[in-house]
Amino acid sequence: MTRSITLRRPDDWHLHLRDGAMLEGVIGDTSRTFARAIIMPNLVPPVVTTADAEAYRGRILAALPQGHHFQPLMTLYLTEHTSPDDVARGKESGLITAVKLYPAGATTNSHGGVRDLAKAMPVLERMAEIGLPLCVHGEVTDPEVDIFDREAVFIERVLEPLRHRLPELKITMEHVTTADGVDYIRNAAKNLAGSITTHHLIINRNAILVGGIRPHYYCLPVAKRESHRLALRKAATSGSPRFFLGTDSAPHVDPLKECACGCAGIYTSINTMNCLAHVFEEEGALEQLEAFASLNGPAWYGLPANEERITLVRRDQPVEFPAKIETGAGPVTVFDPMFPLYWEID
Ligand code: NCD
Ligand code: ZN
Repeated sequence: MTRSITLRRPDDWHLHLRDGAMLEGVIGDTSRTFARAIIMPNLVPPVVTTADAEAYRGRILAALPQGHHFQPLMTLYLTEHTSPDDVARGKESGLITAVKLYPAGATTNSHGGVRDLAKAMPVLERMAEIGLPLCVHGEVTDPEVDIFDREAVFIERVLEPLRHRLPELKITMEHVTTADGVDYIRNAAKNLAGSITTHHLIINRNAILVGGIRPHYYCLPVAKRESHRLALRKAATSGSPRFFLGTDSAPHVDPLKECACGCAGIYTSINTMNCLAHVFEEEGALEQLEAFASLNGPAWYGLPANEERITLVRRDQPVEFPAKIETGAGPVTVFDPMFPLYWEID
């Protein structure tokens, strides 16, 4: 049995750090392990301009624990009024790594997102020209569409026409949750990749709904049936350069999760690599973990892989994680994979 594995230091290609006391409470769980992360812009108010992104980056760096080396890769929240020139300046200056498309109403703090993609076309055209990737939350918001079908319908109604219209635009389909998404990414000719979260490799929709409603397993896109989870595992462990880690770790304080209308989001920053080593070991693919967590993401975003290494060691006894972390904003429940974790970062 493999007892240890060394890989390049990983990056997280989709992360919610929030702001203020929450940012201070969670950032160490990422910066302890990850060298870089793509930072989601869905703050209240959202990070819309390069000036917003620059200020937010400053707050992130100021919140970093002493001695941690971590590079936040900033994104802009696409609106129907986003200025193509501002976006181009952001890319030019090296501040902006990607622009994020939230269909309005699709998820947490997305009401300022895009209702009519035609209105964002000038920005998207400029991005295609200058090689700035678009990260998409790939779900339609049409109330007629069942929540479990929203990703598949997004591919058909939004993504396919957009890729046809702008074949040079590089698109990351974020937090893919379905076999449909995996197949679509795998079969695309070019300019399409997908990130996969830790939790979607571990839970299916039963985790949310069987034996009582379990809000700490609720996130968006919502976990699907088992066959989709298995397709995601196959994609993540395949070594294909099209798939990489984006945890979508999304902290909400417990009172906002445990109520009549709870927020979507699962907090995995603290135990992601432990969970992933477990999953990749189960799949007999530990040798592919480095591609998924440390190599494919930077290659897609045109960045060098990290030079530093981390070693994961398999312990004889389970590694304990707190059930909750305390932040200045309140307690945040940590993702419970529902099996003991034996892998630990040395
Ligand atoms: C995210 C959040 O809370 O900001 N929630 C989630 O369930 N993933 C938003 C998102 O990425 O959809
Ligand atoms: Zn997210």
